[in-house]
Amino acid sequence: MSIPVLLDCDPGHDDAIALLLALASPEVDLLGVTTTYGNQTLEKTTANALRVLELVGREDVPVAAGAAAPLRRQLVVAAHVHGESGLDGPALPPPRTAPVSDDAVTFLADRIAAARRPVTLVPTGPLTNVARFLRAHGGDGVDRIVLMGGAIAEGNMTPAAEFNIWADPEAAAIVFASGLEIHMLGLDVTHQALLGRAEEERLRQAGRVGCFVADLNVFFTRYHRETYGWDGAPIHDAVALAHAIVPGLVETVHCNVEIERESELCRGRTVVDRWHRTERPANAHVGVALDRERFFGLLIERVGSLG
Ligand code: BDR
Ligand code: CA
Repeated sequence: MSIPVLLDCDPGHDDAIALLLALASPEVDLLGVTTTYGNQTLEKTTANALRVLELVGREDVPVAAGAAAPLRRQLVVAAHVHGESGLDGPALPPPRTAPVSDDAVTFLADRIAAARRPVTLVPTGPLTNVARFLRAHGGDGVDRIVLMGGAIAEGNMTPAAEFNIWADPEAAAIVFASGLEIHMLGLDVTHQALLGRAEEERLRQAGRVGCFVADLNVFFTRYHRETYGWDGAPIHDAVALAHAIVPGLVETVHCNVEIERESELCRGRTVVDRWHRTERPANAHVGVALDRERFFGLLIERVGSLG
């Protein structure tokens, strides 16, 4: 039986790849896509979600636009990673279609209420929409939240924090305190999902959409080459989507995660009590290892099936 999924994203190269993986996966019943500011402004990330859906003829998937800024912090976008459009690299025409709503919170509530089974939320951007939804409607009808964000060991926006959590730490704190089943796929596992030249080549041989993903990766690699010296880019958000549908792909530990909101230096740090150094109750399943071969096997096969 397929898994009802709502994808909350800020496309973004790796968000776009996560969306394509969802569309290509028979395990997923994609109920809709909500968008947030993050990798670029809300206007651009929403346009990008529509452009990707149009690329593969899936205009039937409804898109609702959400937050244009964090709950309390200043808006900062990741143009230095994802470019001016938020999806720089391959040529994509502007969208022909439009979002069905500009109220992602109500859209999420409606889609969850209409679903016959509990829904998996997959947030792959800052958590503002999800926090607002939980504050307004609670977690009824949500099976689990499988999110890309945070890290045990390192940061990418700052030395202490990963971008999605750093962008809106107050929203992240609401999500991690929700009592819902949370899966956190952070940099510890997503930095193992480096899409390098060998995988690019396999994607190019897998057809038109494979070529598109390879072209996305060429642009996405620029930043990672300059910053880390890597010959490839981490496909962060697709790891979250893959974990939601394939048991055993990511090894997790069940432990406490708190979000740092006071310190400026450590803003947005996910304080992960991996070794149970406190009495704080476990509230998240935190990714610690990725089966890289299986992940890329799945991604390339599924993207190839899109044509
Ligand atoms: C996260 O931030 C964005 O740049 C990516 O899309 C991903 O969701 C990685 O820190
Ligand atoms: Ca993202």
